[in-house]
Amino acid sequence: MKLTIFAATGGIGRQALEQAVAQGHDVTAVVRNPKKLSRQVRVVAADLAAPDPATLELAVKGADAVLSGLGARSSSDTGVAWRGTRAIVQAMKAADVRRIVVVSAAPIGTVPSPGRPNPPKHDPGDGFFVRNLLGPLIKAALRKHFADLAMMEDVLRDSGLDWTVVRPPRLTDGPVTGAYRTAYGQNLLRGLLISRADVAHFMLRALRQPETCKRVVGIAH
Ligand SMILES: NC(=O)c1ccc[n+]([C@@H]2O[C@H](COP(=O)([O-])OP(=O)(O)OC[C@H]3O[C@@H](n4cnc5c(N)ncnc54)[C@H](OP(=O)(O)O)[C@@H]3O)[C@@H](O)[C@H]2O)c1
Repeated sequence: MKLTIFAATGGIGRQALEQAVAQGHDVTAVVRNPKKLSRQVRVVAADLAAPDPATLELAVKGADAVLSGLGARSSSDTGVAWRGTRAIVQAMKAADVRRIVVVSAAPIGTVPSPGRPNPPKHDPGDGFFVRNLLGPLIKAALRKHFADLAMMEDVLRDSGLDWTVVRPPRLTDGPVTGAYRTAYGQNLLRGLLISRADVAHFMLRALRQPETCKRVVGIAH
Protein backbone atom coordinates (compact mmCIF):
# COMPACT_ATOMS: atom_id res chain seq x y z
CA MET A 1 0.00 0.00 0.00
CA LYS A 2 0.95 3.62 -0.33
CA LEU A 3 0.94 4.98 3.22
CA THR A 4 1.45 8.46 4.62
CA ILE A 5 2.63 8.37 8.24
CA PHE A 6 2.31 11.53 10.32
CA ALA A 7 4.64 12.00 13.32
CA ALA A 8 6.94 9.22 12.08
CA THR A 9 9.63 10.38 14.53
CA GLY A 10 7.51 9.70 17.63
CA GLY A 11 7.48 6.52 19.71
CA ILE A 12 4.56 4.92 17.88
CA GLY A 13 5.16 6.76 14.60
CA ARG A 14 8.71 5.44 14.36
CA GLN A 15 7.46 1.90 14.98
CA ALA A 16 4.76 2.34 12.35
CA LEU A 17 7.38 3.55 9.89
CA GLU A 18 9.77 0.64 10.58
CA GLN A 19 7.05 -2.00 10.41
CA ALA A 20 5.40 -0.49 7.32
CA VAL A 21 8.71 -0.47 5.43
CA ALA A 22 9.46 -4.02 6.60
CA GLN A 23 6.04 -5.11 5.29
CA GLY A 24 6.88 -3.65 1.89
CA HIS A 25 4.63 -0.60 1.96
CA ASP A 26 5.54 2.53 0.05
CA VAL A 27 5.81 5.14 2.82
CA THR A 28 5.75 8.92 2.92
CA ALA A 29 6.73 10.29 6.34
CA VAL A 30 5.42 13.66 7.51
CA VAL A 31 7.57 15.06 10.32
CA ARG A 32 8.56 18.42 11.69
CA ASN A 33 12.22 17.46 11.93
CA PRO A 34 13.41 15.20 9.06
CA LYS A 35 16.84 14.80 10.73
CA LYS A 36 15.17 12.63 13.39
CA LEU A 37 13.90 10.07 10.86
CA SER A 38 15.15 6.52 11.40
CA ARG A 39 14.71 5.52 7.74
CA GLN A 40 15.23 6.99 4.34
CA VAL A 41 11.77 7.31 2.88
CA ARG A 42 9.99 10.06 1.00
CA VAL A 43 9.69 12.83 3.56
CA VAL A 44 7.52 15.92 3.88
CA ALA A 45 8.43 18.48 6.54
CA ALA A 46 5.43 20.02 8.31
CA ASP A 47 4.84 21.61 11.68
CA LEU A 48 1.32 20.53 12.51
CA ALA A 49 0.89 23.39 14.97
CA ALA A 50 0.87 25.73 11.96
CA PRO A 51 0.22 23.47 8.98
CA ASP A 52 0.26 24.59 5.38
CA PRO A 53 -2.78 22.97 3.66
CA ALA A 54 -1.04 22.63 0.27
CA THR A 55 1.94 20.81 1.85
CA LEU A 56 -0.33 18.37 3.67
CA GLU A 57 -2.42 17.76 0.54
CA LEU A 58 0.73 16.91 -1.36
CA ALA A 59 1.82 14.59 1.46
CA VAL A 60 -1.38 12.52 1.34
CA LYS A 61 -2.06 12.67 -2.40
CA GLY A 62 -2.26 9.16 -3.88
CA ALA A 63 -2.08 7.44 -0.46
CA ASP A 64 -4.20 4.37 0.18
CA ALA A 65 -4.23 5.24 3.87
CA VAL A 66 -2.89 7.60 6.50
CA LEU A 67 -1.50 6.66 9.91
CA SER A 68 -0.91 9.24 12.65
CA GLY A 69 0.98 9.00 15.92
CA LEU A 70 0.64 12.74 16.48
CA GLY A 71 0.42 13.93 20.08
CA ALA A 72 1.68 16.76 22.27
CA ARG A 73 5.26 16.24 23.46
CA SER A 74 4.84 18.83 26.21
CA SER A 75 2.12 20.98 27.71
CA SER A 76 3.15 23.84 25.42
CA ASP A 77 2.27 21.58 22.45
CA THR A 78 -1.22 20.84 23.78
CA GLY A 79 -3.88 21.34 21.11
CA VAL A 80 -1.67 19.96 18.37
CA ALA A 81 -3.51 16.62 18.27
CA TRP A 82 -6.89 18.06 17.35
CA ARG A 83 -5.68 21.00 15.27
CA GLY A 84 -3.13 18.88 13.42
CA THR A 85 -5.67 16.11 12.86
CA ARG A 86 -8.20 18.64 11.57
CA ALA A 87 -5.60 19.79 9.04
CA ILE A 88 -4.82 16.18 8.06
CA VAL A 89 -8.54 15.47 7.56
CA GLN A 90 -8.93 18.57 5.39
CA ALA A 91 -5.92 17.53 3.30
CA MET A 92 -7.32 14.00 2.91
CA LYS A 93 -10.67 15.34 1.74
CA ALA A 94 -8.96 17.64 -0.75
CA ALA A 95 -6.87 14.74 -2.06
CA ASP A 96 -9.75 12.24 -1.98
CA VAL A 97 -8.07 9.89 0.54
CA ARG A 98 -10.49 8.15 2.90
CA ARG A 99 -8.71 5.85 5.35
CA ILE A 100 -7.01 7.08 8.53
CA VAL A 101 -5.87 5.35 11.75
CA VAL A 102 -4.82 7.49 14.73
CA VAL A 103 -3.67 7.07 18.32
CA SER A 104 -5.75 8.41 21.21
CA ALA A 105 -5.64 7.16 24.82
CA ALA A 106 -7.55 4.70 27.02
CA PRO A 107 -9.19 7.30 29.32
CA ILE A 108 -10.77 9.31 26.48
CA GLY A 109 -14.02 7.32 26.45
CA THR A 110 -15.00 9.12 29.67
CA VAL A 111 -13.61 12.57 28.80
CA PRO A 112 -16.24 15.15 27.75
CA SER A 113 -15.71 17.14 24.56
CA PRO A 114 -17.82 19.59 22.55
CA GLY A 115 -18.93 16.74 20.27
CA ARG A 116 -19.57 14.34 23.15
CA PRO A 117 -20.51 16.49 26.14
CA ASN A 118 -21.96 13.63 28.21
CA PRO A 119 -19.74 10.58 27.90
CA PRO A 120 -20.34 7.59 30.16
CA LYS A 121 -18.93 8.07 33.67
CA HIS A 122 -17.05 4.77 33.47
CA ASP A 123 -15.53 2.81 30.62
CA PRO A 124 -17.07 -0.69 30.73
CA GLY A 125 -13.57 -2.19 30.33
CA ASP A 126 -12.11 -0.44 33.37
CA GLY A 127 -11.88 -2.43 36.60
CA PHE A 128 -12.21 -1.09 40.15
CA PHE A 129 -8.60 0.14 40.37
CA VAL A 130 -8.71 2.14 37.14
CA ARG A 131 -12.23 3.49 37.73
CA ASN A 132 -11.70 4.69 41.24
CA LEU A 133 -7.98 5.33 41.70
CA LEU A 134 -5.73 5.38 38.65
CA GLY A 135 -8.22 6.90 36.19
CA PRO A 136 -9.20 9.99 38.25
CA LEU A 137 -5.52 10.66 39.11
CA ILE A 138 -4.32 10.44 35.52
CA LYS A 139 -7.24 12.48 34.23
CA ALA A 140 -6.51 15.24 36.74
CA ALA A 141 -2.80 15.26 35.86
CA LEU A 142 -3.30 15.17 32.07
CA ARG A 143 -6.54 17.13 31.80
CA LYS A 144 -5.44 19.37 28.91
CA HIS A 145 -3.71 16.56 27.03
CA PHE A 146 -6.84 14.41 27.25
CA ALA A 147 -9.11 17.32 26.22
CA ASP A 148 -6.91 17.66 23.13
CA LEU A 149 -7.29 13.95 22.31
CA ALA A 150 -11.06 14.03 22.96
CA MET A 151 -11.39 16.92 20.49
CA MET A 152 -9.22 15.01 18.03
CA GLU A 153 -11.72 12.15 18.27
CA ASP A 154 -14.55 14.68 17.61
CA VAL A 155 -12.76 15.83 14.46
CA LEU A 156 -12.59 12.24 13.19
CA ARG A 157 -16.19 11.36 14.10
CA ASP A 158 -17.37 14.43 12.17
CA SER A 159 -15.03 13.85 9.24
CA GLY A 160 -17.07 11.41 7.17
CA LEU A 161 -13.78 9.58 6.52
CA ASP A 162 -13.06 5.90 7.21
CA TRP A 163 -11.32 6.49 10.54
CA THR A 164 -10.15 4.21 13.31
CA VAL A 165 -9.20 5.58 16.72
CA VAL A 166 -6.89 3.34 18.76
CA ARG A 167 -7.00 3.91 22.51
CA PRO A 168 -3.97 2.44 24.28
CA PRO A 169 -3.30 2.46 28.03
CA ARG A 170 0.23 3.20 29.34
CA LEU A 171 2.80 2.82 26.55
CA THR A 172 6.04 0.88 26.90
CA ASP A 173 9.08 0.49 24.65
CA GLY A 174 8.73 -3.29 24.59
CA PRO A 175 9.03 -5.32 21.40
CA VAL A 176 6.41 -6.10 18.81
CA THR A 177 4.60 -9.28 19.82
CA GLY A 178 1.30 -9.23 17.94
CA ALA A 179 -0.06 -10.81 21.15
CA TYR A 180 -2.45 -8.15 22.37
CA ARG A 181 -6.15 -7.88 23.03
CA THR A 182 -8.53 -5.44 21.33
CA ALA A 183 -12.14 -4.44 21.96
CA TYR A 184 -14.51 -2.16 20.09
CA GLY A 185 -15.59 0.98 21.92
CA GLN A 186 -14.08 0.13 25.28
CA ASN A 187 -10.94 -0.60 27.24
CA LEU A 188 -9.64 -4.03 28.20
CA LEU A 189 -10.13 -5.36 31.72
CA ARG A 190 -6.73 -5.47 33.51
CA GLY A 191 -5.13 -4.09 30.35
CA LEU A 192 -2.79 -1.53 31.87
CA LEU A 193 0.08 -1.66 29.36
CA ILE A 194 0.86 -2.01 25.67
CA SER A 195 4.08 -1.52 23.75
CA ARG A 196 4.34 1.26 21.19
CA ALA A 197 5.49 -1.44 18.75
CA ASP A 198 2.27 -3.40 19.23
CA VAL A 199 0.10 -0.29 18.84
CA ALA A 200 1.85 0.33 15.51
CA HIS A 201 1.37 -3.34 14.62
CA PHE A 202 -2.36 -3.03 15.18
CA MET A 203 -2.59 0.26 13.25
CA LEU A 204 -1.13 -1.47 10.20
CA ARG A 205 -3.30 -4.53 10.74
CA ALA A 206 -6.43 -2.34 10.93
CA LEU A 207 -5.80 -1.24 7.35
CA ARG A 208 -6.69 -4.77 6.26
CA GLN A 209 -9.76 -4.88 8.53
CA PRO A 210 -12.58 -2.76 7.07
CA GLU A 211 -14.69 -3.65 10.11
CA THR A 212 -12.49 -1.29 12.14
CA CYS A 213 -13.69 1.72 10.09
CA LYS A 214 -15.58 4.36 12.07
CA ARG A 215 -14.73 2.48 15.27
CA VAL A 216 -12.84 3.21 18.45
CA VAL A 217 -10.64 0.27 19.43
CA GLY A 218 -9.27 -0.39 22.90
CA ILE A 219 -5.99 -2.28 22.91
CA ALA A 220 -3.80 -3.78 25.64
CA HIS A 221 -1.49 -6.65 26.39
N1 LIG B 1 2.69 7.95 26.97
C1 LIG B 1 1.73 7.12 27.21
O1 LIG B 1 1.81 6.23 28.08
C2 LIG B 1 0.46 7.21 26.39
C3 LIG B 1 -0.60 6.39 26.72
C4 LIG B 1 -1.73 6.42 25.92
C5 LIG B 1 -1.82 7.25 24.83
N2 LIG B 1 -0.78 8.08 24.54
C6 LIG B 1 -0.92 8.92 23.34
O2 LIG B 1 -0.19 8.30 22.30
C7 LIG B 1 0.49 9.32 21.55
C8 LIG B 1 1.66 8.72 20.85
O3 LIG B 1 2.58 8.24 21.81
P1 LIG B 1 4.13 8.30 21.52
O4 LIG B 1 4.83 7.69 22.67
O5 LIG B 1 4.37 7.81 20.15
O6 LIG B 1 4.32 9.91 21.57
P2 LIG B 1 5.60 10.79 21.22
O7 LIG B 1 6.81 9.93 21.15
O8 LIG B 1 5.58 11.96 22.14
O9 LIG B 1 5.30 11.28 19.72
C9 LIG B 1 4.53 12.42 19.43
C10 LIG B 1 4.74 12.72 17.97
O10 LIG B 1 3.99 13.90 17.62
C11 LIG B 1 4.85 14.76 16.92
N3 LIG B 1 4.48 16.17 17.08
C12 LIG B 1 4.19 16.84 18.21
N4 LIG B 1 3.96 18.14 17.94
C13 LIG B 1 4.11 18.26 16.59
C14 LIG B 1 4.01 19.35 15.68
N5 LIG B 1 3.70 20.60 16.10
N6 LIG B 1 4.20 19.14 14.37
C15 LIG B 1 4.52 17.90 13.91
N7 LIG B 1 4.64 16.83 14.71
C16 LIG B 1 4.45 17.02 16.03
C17 LIG B 1 6.22 14.54 17.53
O11 LIG B 1 7.21 15.04 16.66
P3 LIG B 1 8.76 15.19 17.17
O12 LIG B 1 9.34 13.80 17.09
O13 LIG B 1 9.34 16.12 16.18
O14 LIG B 1 8.72 15.73 18.57
C18 LIG B 1 6.22 13.03 17.63
O15 LIG B 1 6.52 12.46 16.39
C19 LIG B 1 0.84 10.34 22.62
O16 LIG B 1 1.11 11.58 22.08
C20 LIG B 1 -0.39 10.32 23.50
O17 LIG B 1 -1.33 11.25 23.02
C21 LIG B 1 0.35 8.06 25.30
